Amino acid sequence: MYEKINLDQLHNSGVRVVDLRSDTVSKPTPEMREAMYRAPVGDDVYGEDPTVAELERRAAEILEKEEAIFVASGTMANLIAIMVHCNQRGSEIISGDHGHTFKFEQGGTAQIAGVHTAVIKNNEDGTFSIEDLRKKIRKNPDFHEPISSLIIVENTHNLCGGKVLPLEWLEKVHNLAEEHHLPVHMDGARMMNAAVYLKVPPSRIVKDVDSVCFCLSKGLGCPVGAILAGTSTFIDKARRVRKALGGGWRQAGIIAAAGLVALDTMIERLQEDHDHAYQIAKAIYAMHSTNFKVDLQTVQTNIVLMYFDKTKITVQDLQRRLQTVLKTDRVKCSVRSMSLNHDCVRFTLYWGISDEDVTVACEKIQLVIREYDELLKGY
Ligand SMILES: Cc1ncc(COP(=O)(O)O)c(C=O)c1O
Repeated sequence: MYEKINLDQLHNSGVRVVDLRSDTVSKPTPEMREAMYRAPVGDDVYGEDPTVAELERRAAEILEKEEAIFVASGTMANLIAIMVHCNQRGSEIISGDHGHTFKFEQGGTAQIAGVHTAVIKNNEDGTFSIEDLRKKIRKNPDFHEPISSLIIVENTHNLCGGKVLPLEWLEKVHNLAEEHHLPVHMDGARMMNAAVYLKVPPSRIVKDVDSVCFCLSKGLGCPVGAILAGTSTFIDKARRVRKALGGGWRQAGIIAAAGLVALDTMIERLQEDHDHAYQIAKAIYAMHSTNFKVDLQTVQTNIVLMYFDKTKITVQDLQRRLQTVLKTDRVKCSVRSMSLNHDCVRFTLYWGISDEDVTVACEKIQLVIREYDELLKGY
């Protein structure tokens, strides 16, 4: 997916490395490190860690859900949610075909939970057709069929470029699910970005879903962790499943402390990352390149997808070129990106990327585009 480079060597040679691979590479803030040092802790498996308990209480309060549980990762949160909602053999979930749980979680749904997935084509905005959803729900399944047990939505939608699900669409999914007595889970790894984009409280984003998870370790900057929230009954069951998956942790207050700082200080500031993402998208757009495209309208949060013609350019070459320090670089700069498809690279913004980093990264990306455009003239 990306090449390993010797960052120390690059830093030491005065190169500015702007790492836009993912918001997961964000490091904890100084305030988080301080809070981690001071955190009161206890054995959380015995329910005795006051910092974990406080993080779970605060997260539930912010989301306006009955309870929440602190877990190791977004992947674990999604898997636990699936295992709690789909607790009978022969269960089936319904998901978009670009969904993270479907594409990028190693098929844990099948591998570990023993649950079948039915997919619906995702639209470019991260939604899927409500009519297709209606068709996918198995009404009165006979004994040949699996049993529809859960609908999963993703917000913001990673593969769709950080797109925010429209609130009206979420309401439609909820109404249809309710009609068929089906729960809805939101993979809200970046749902705080959605709340900031729509300028609504986080609780509004998750009003129409039964359970939701969000990551503390992405744009919110924590070293590790995710939150899963829902009803008290759901969270009781989630605690059992987390233990079975080996995710019961002991003095986890050390890391939960960073989560509390994140909830206090890192949500509103996500707007800065969105502004930075838009600045990069505008810089690409301004090149009016025949080989590279960005859709300005669709850059809503902290992710920019830059598309290119894969018949002329390979993603490996492009990433290498962005990463290499070129003679023509005014400021020596290496830009790191992520490839999710063969025709696009992803740039993701987070708190460690400064205004100056963005300015230099824009210059570098434009330089590489210019080079390709020259090279491919008439091709
Ligand atoms: C939408 C989405 N869901 C879930 C995850 C999984 O999170 P984690 O890497 O913490 O397991 C990711 C990670 O990138 C993601 O983008």
